[in-house]
Amino acid sequence: MQPFHPFVQYPFDQQPEQTTTSRYMVSMFNPVELLRQPVTFPFSGRTAKNRFLKSAMSERLATFSNFDPCGRGQPTEELVRLYETWAKGDIGIIVTGNIQIKKDHLEATGNTIIDKDLPSVYLREWTEVARAAKSQGSLVIGQLSHPGRQVSINIQPYPEAPSDVEQPSIGGVLFGQPMPLTKDGIKDIVNRFAYAAFVLHRAGFDGVQLHVAHGYLLSQFLTTTTNMRTDEYGGSLVNRAQIILETIAAIRQAVQSPSFIISVKLNAQDSAPQGLCIEESIMVAKLLEIAGVDFIEVSGGAYEQNIRSSRDKPYTVETREGYFVEYAEILRSNLDLSKVVATGGFQTSQGMADAVLRGAADIIGLARPLTAEPLLVRDILRGEKNRAKGDKFPESPMLRFVASAAQIAEIGNGQDITDFDNAFHVARFIAKMQKEIPAAISEALFS
Ligand SMILES: Cc1cc2nc3c(=O)[nH]c(=O)nc-3n(C[C@H](O)[C@H](O)[C@H](O)COP(=O)(O)O)c2cc1C
Repeated sequence: MQPFHPFVQYPFDQQPEQTTTSRYMVSMFNPVELLRQPVTFPFSGRTAKNRFLKSAMSERLATFSNFDPCGRGQPTEELVRLYETWAKGDIGIIVTGNIQIKKDHLEATGNTIIDKDLPSVYLREWTEVARAAKSQGSLVIGQLSHPGRQVSINIQPYPEAPSDVEQPSIGGVLFGQPMPLTKDGIKDIVNRFAYAAFVLHRAGFDGVQLHVAHGYLLSQFLTTTTNMRTDEYGGSLVNRAQIILETIAAIRQAVQSPSFIISVKLNAQDSAPQGLCIEESIMVAKLLEIAGVDFIEVSGGAYEQNIRSSRDKPYTVETREGYFVEYAEILRSNLDLSKVVATGGFQTSQGMADAVLRGAADIIGLARPLTAEPLLVRDILRGEKNRAKGDKFPESPMLRFVASAAQIAEIGNGQDITDFDNAFHVARFIAKMQKEIPAAISEALFS
C-alpha cells in the first residue's frame, strides 16, 4: 500500500488508506488553510493577513525626462491603478517595485524616485499609492534601491559603486566605468535611503525593503568581486555589510516608529565565481536579525547572469518550482526571529504550502504570476484555483521578464492583460519585441 500524502490528488479508485495521523495532517495542512494563516513580525509587531507577498517588480510607470532629471520619478495615475488592482487580490504584503534614491542613478527609465534634491518628493502621490495598495488590508512596503554600477550608460555614464569594477554589457545594454564611492559619498547614500523611508512612512507605508539582491549597489558591497575596498566598508564580511547596517540604523532614526517594518531582499548566493556564497549570506542574515529586520526575502543571482528568473538552480535538486526553497530553508534554520520569504518560480498552491511545511519559508513571494493574474492569491484562498497560469514562451528568462513588464503596463493603463498561455499572443509579442529591441531579444532567445 502506498503511503498517504496529504497533498497528492489521488484518482478516485486509487485512494490509499488514511491513518488517523494522515487524516489529521490533511485537516492540519490543507494547502489553502496553511497559506491563509496570518504572520506576525517579530520586531514591528505588525501582522500580515496571510502568507503571501507580492514581490517587487519595477513598474516603470513614473514620469521620465531624458533632459530634465527634475521631471523624473513622479508616481502617476497608472501606478495608482496598478496598486488598486493588486490590493483587490487579497495579498498579505505588497512590495512596490524598486524606488530609486537618486534621480540620475536608475535601474530603468520610468522608475519611481524619492530624492531630496528633486523639487518635490511627491508626498501627495505616494499617499495615493499607499491608500490604493492598503485599501483591502494588505501591508504595503516600499522597496528602496540604488543601482550602483548596474545603470545603463544612456542614463548614467559615470556610475557610483563600491569599486571601479565595470559591469559587462548584457542584452545590448552598455554600462559605464564605475567610480568608487568616497566615504562621504557612502554617508550621503545612507542618508538618502533613510530620507526615502521617512517620506514613505509619512505617506502611510507600513515599511520598507532594502534591495540587497540581483547585483544592485548594496549587493555589490557584499560581494568581493565588486567590493575591493580596503577601508571599513571592504574586506571582512562584517565590513562589507556595514553600509547596510548603517542604513537600517539611519532609517530607524529618521522614521522614529517601532512599528515600521524594515525588511531586506537578499541574495542567498550570487551564482557567480567568487560571488556571495550561502555561508556568507547566513552570516549576513544573522547580522540583519540582530539589526531588527522583520523579514528577509530570499532571492539569488544578478543582472549579469539574468538568473533571477532562471529555472537552473544548483540547489533545487528535484524541483519543479520554488527556485530558492533550499537556500531559504538553510537561512531560516539559522534564524530565530526574523521571518523568511521564499520568492521565485512558485506555480501551485501545493508547492507553496510544501515550502512552508518543510520549514523553508514563513511567506511565499510571487512576482510574474501576479502580472498575468493580479487576483491569483484571492482565487487560491477562495479555493477557486490551485495553480498559476502557464505560458507558451520558449525557455527564456529575459523574455518572460519583459512579458511581465508589458502586463504591468497593461494593468496600469486599465487594458486587458495579454494571455501568454496562448501561443499566438506569444508569437506576436516576440515579433513586436524583435522590432523594438532586436539585440536584447536575440540574446534572450539564444542564451
Ligand atoms: C517585470 C519584473 C520586474 C522586477 N523588478 C524587480 C525589482 O524592482 N526589485 C526586485 O527585487 N526584484 C524585481 N524582480 C524580480 C522579482 O521580484 C522576483 O524575484 C522574480 O521575478 C522571481 O519571482 P517569480 O518567479 O515569482 O516571478 C522583477 C521581476 C519582474 C518579472
